[in-house]
Amino acid sequence: MSNIEQTLSIIKPDAVERNLIEKIKSIFTKNNLTIKEDKKIHITKDEAAEFYKVHQSKPFYNDLCTYLSSGPIVVMILEGENAVVHNRKLMGATNPKNAEENTIRKLYGISIDKNSVHGSDSIDNAKKEINFFFKS
Ligand code: CMP
Repeated sequence: MSNIEQTLSIIKPDAVERNLIEKIKSIFTKNNLTIKEDKKIHITKDEAAEFYKVHQSKPFYNDLCTYLSSGPIVVMILEGENAVVHNRKLMGATNPKNAEENTIRKLYGISIDKNSVHGSDSIDNAKKEINFFFKS
């Protein structure tokens, strides 16, 4: 039975800065995820703080929000079979050092902060995160 989902993907400032947008997008499309919407934006630190508020108690929260607002990012709605889990497999582990070969973070991530991409971690968060960037 098919299970078409949508998830939110972000190409983070480190990857935008290194001109990796098309390379990363092609990993999604070659792996059967359709980019339904995408836009390049530069968010404020307050917006980043709102987006990442699930992490507000973490010691890395402030740096994380500073970083996501430090330069342009690309936000995308990806759609496909089991898109939430599929996207996370394509991204690889949060820390590029632990990411499997050929995952986006292994190929392009620099550090746990500059790990090139973000992807929703559950259906519920995917809905919230899509709504955050694409609410009409
Ligand atoms: P992301 O998937 O965007 O979700 C939260 C981000 O926090 C994560 O990727 C990392 O880039 C960043 N981060 C920094 N330090 C840590 C840490 N110790 N554990 C998890 N995430 C971290």
